[in-house]
Amino acid sequence: TRNGVEFAVADLEAAEFGRKEIRLAEHEMPGLMALRREYAEVYPLRGARISGSLHMTVQTAVLIETLVALGAEVRWCSCNIFSTQDHAAAAVVVGPNGTPEKPRGVPVFAWKGETLEEYWWCTERMLTWDDGGVAGPNMILDDGGDATLLVHKGTQYEKAGVVPDPADDDPDEWKVVLGLLRESLAADAGKWTRIGAGIRGVTEETTTGVLRLYQLAAAGELLFPAINVNDSVTKSKFDNRYGIRHSLIDGINRGTDVLIGGKCAVVCGYGDVGKGAAESLRGQGARVIIAEIDPICALQAMMDGYQVKTLESALPEADIVITTTGNKDVVMVDHMARMKHQTIVGNIGHFDNEIDMAGLARYPGVRRITIKPQVDEWVFPDGHSIIVLSEGRLLNLGNATGHPSFVMSNSFSNQVIAQIELFTKHEEYDKEVYRLPKKLDEKVARIHLEALGGELTKLTKEQAEYIDVDVEGPFKSEHYRY
Ligand code: NAI
Repeated sequence: TRNGVEFAVADLEAAEFGRKEIRLAEHEMPGLMALRREYAEVYPLRGARISGSLHMTVQTAVLIETLVALGAEVRWCSCNIFSTQDHAAAAVVVGPNGTPEKPRGVPVFAWKGETLEEYWWCTERMLTWDDGGVAGPNMILDDGGDATLLVHKGTQYEKAGVVPDPADDDPDEWKVVLGLLRESLAADAGKWTRIGAGIRGVTEETTTGVLRLYQLAAAGELLFPAINVNDSVTKSKFDNRYGIRHSLIDGINRGTDVLIGGKCAVVCGYGDVGKGAAESLRGQGARVIIAEIDPICALQAMMDGYQVKTLESALPEADIVITTTGNKDVVMVDHMARMKHQTIVGNIGHFDNEIDMAGLARYPGVRRITIKPQVDEWVFPDGHSIIVLSEGRLLNLGNATGHPSFVMSNSFSNQVIAQIELFTKHEEYDKEVYRLPKKLDEKVARIHLEALGGELTKLTKEQAEYIDVDVEGPFKSEHYRY
């Protein structure tokens, strides 16, 4: 704590650099800046105590300061051990009007290169407000669902009166979570139940986190209402696709500097992220092969001019293998053992279980040579090696700086609107998962369209009646797929 602001970041002195980049990013985030103007005198988030878990980048700094401008108190951590930009974290702590000696900003618990123990410690600190434990957060802003998971698991253990006890064969990360809950239960057996009860709602950023929310809701276990921000059209059809188109090759280039042109790249998954990934690699002149389980997405890939194969049959050709599925066990150690020498292996889905890192580490005789942070060469006993980016975690944020500001302005505008909606109208929502109305999606798109100088055609009254929509929108039915 310094000047009353709690924090755990790498270096507060980096704040000045962070502030300069935040200033440039603000211009590229017209949606967030428009929301600041729209609510300048209203403060719709006054009284909100938002606990946020989302990659602590320059773009997220603009999001955090937008929430503050709208009246919220905020605490933040990153949702990945490698994704924090230390200068952005420092600038948020220092704040626009503070200095490293006298910070006036927002508590942040995040640095690049956390251990798993540190990661979950940061998540816990972010959820623990320094007020004697009376009131916790009343809103969660989540990316991937780890903050939501901690509150739910903690509450479940407290209600059951059971002490969390990791089993030997539990994954390492789960052991860390259970260890943390065991300690917190010993110190205060009502902490998570209190926190859960105080939360009005959660807004979730990504596909993987949304899946967890629907699973909780289906089981009747969701403790508070949720807004699925990911499935706003101006989120998943832009961030997941065009954001990845930008940041995938950025990560590969910064990590390896290998020429992508002329190489064979295999992309596992052809959903929104996979589509952006394939386009990104093709744009560099790679020959792209798609692996898919869904015939619809696989056929889309063929229509877009890609070959579709299984990973197994594509392996002999592959120079680059990228997973984008949000599923587990996609690239296994047996695949890696059969890859060509110096094949680049990376994941851009939310969690690291897409690539069998545990199996790789256990493979008899395998050696790990760290080339630089977030770039490892793994040498197999037969002499061939593979290059793994970001230890199998999302490489666009681990090896590069994630999506650029403009596309994140779309995503984060939806986040801010969703936070206002749940904070101010929580009684109108059940403990279910909701999406934002299409009208708001169109509003977000309109702001960004105008910022780019796009010219929108206006419907006449007769045309609007003919296609059965309002002149002012929404322009599509709910089932329209874009
Ligand atoms: P999606 O559901 O649109 O696409 C995933 C695709 O993978 C689906 O088409 C599915 O059929 C396919 N798939 C599933 N299992 C497979 C398997 N074993 N082999 C081949 N294909 C398989 O999901 P979306 O939105 O594309 O997200 C994918 C992941 O990326 C999620 O974990 C999401 O949270 C994450 N994400 C990461 C971002 C980043 O900046 N790195 C940005 C946005 C999303």
